[in-house]
Amino acid sequence: MTPARTTSHEPSASHRPHTGELLHDEALAAAFDHAARSYDRLVAANPGYHAHLRRSARRLRLPASGAGLRLLDLGCGTGASTAALLRTVPLAEITAVDASEGMLERAAAKRWPPTVRFVHAPVERLGAAGVNGPYDAAFAAYLFRNVSDPDAVLAAVRALLRPGGRLAVHEYTLSGRPSDRLVWTAVCRAVVLPAGTLTGDHGLYRHLWRSVVGFDTAREFAARVRRAGFDQVRTAPMPGWQTGIVHTVLGRAADGTASARLTGQGEAG
Ligand SMILES: C[S@@+](CC[C@H](N)C(=O)[O-])C[C@H]1O[C@@H](n2cnc3c(N)ncnc32)[C@H](O)[C@@H]1O
Repeated sequence: MTPARTTSHEPSASHRPHTGELLHDEALAAAFDHAARSYDRLVAANPGYHAHLRRSARRLRLPASGAGLRLLDLGCGTGASTAALLRTVPLAEITAVDASEGMLERAAAKRWPPTVRFVHAPVERLGAAGVNGPYDAAFAAYLFRNVSDPDAVLAAVRALLRPGGRLAVHEYTLSGRPSDRLVWTAVCRAVVLPAGTLTGDHGLYRHLWRSVVGFDTAREFAARVRRAGFDQVRTAPMPGWQTGIVHTVLGRAADGTASARLTGQGEAG
């Protein structure tokens, strides 16, 4: 696995988003409720979107079928990440959680096996929604950049995982190279913002642009994951235009003894 080519990077004042540019909590969920109707069409037009989710899911290195494993899909949206998990480990039991009712309705309307359940809740209140561990792995695709306190959410996820459980965070986390930030901004100006304007979701897609610019680099996010009690933390890049822009950040709930159920197996890609 090739580690991400990252350098420590603090966005300069001119690149850091102004507080008012970002959406949080209920306002963010409402924006996703509205965007849900066009979400699947927009991501289908993004080259590699689904293949990259599957790549991150494989990077969990779970046994091929997932039989007997309990997985979390945090911020499942319309179910694209859930489908990627299911394709990778079809026999696993998957709890898929999202704060947006509109996104979840789209997800739940799709065809799923009885091993998949959807839960309407913010990831900050999983216990109150009946999402209780232990889980064998947690997957979070395009979630952490959106939460107000990523350290608290990482700690809560760590607590839900059994010792040795796996984490894969698939996220727009820039490399720290100025050229990658420029590519991201060019893609947003040429494609993402105009598409958001067409669908009536300009605010959400502006949030997408600015939240990525203001969020951790892949290396900074990996450091957060370590601080939250994960070991074997590493970052892995994506191919395509997303190189240096999207990474998988992987970790293992630390305790020193990996479960026998999760030894061997899996694709590193
Ligand atoms: C960009 S979408 C990604 C959806 C899906 N994981 C995918 O890969 O296509 C981000 C999702 O995270 C959800 N989300 C954002 N903040 C959340 C929070 N605090 N708790 C639960 N879900 C949240 C949003 O409602 C949205 O559906």
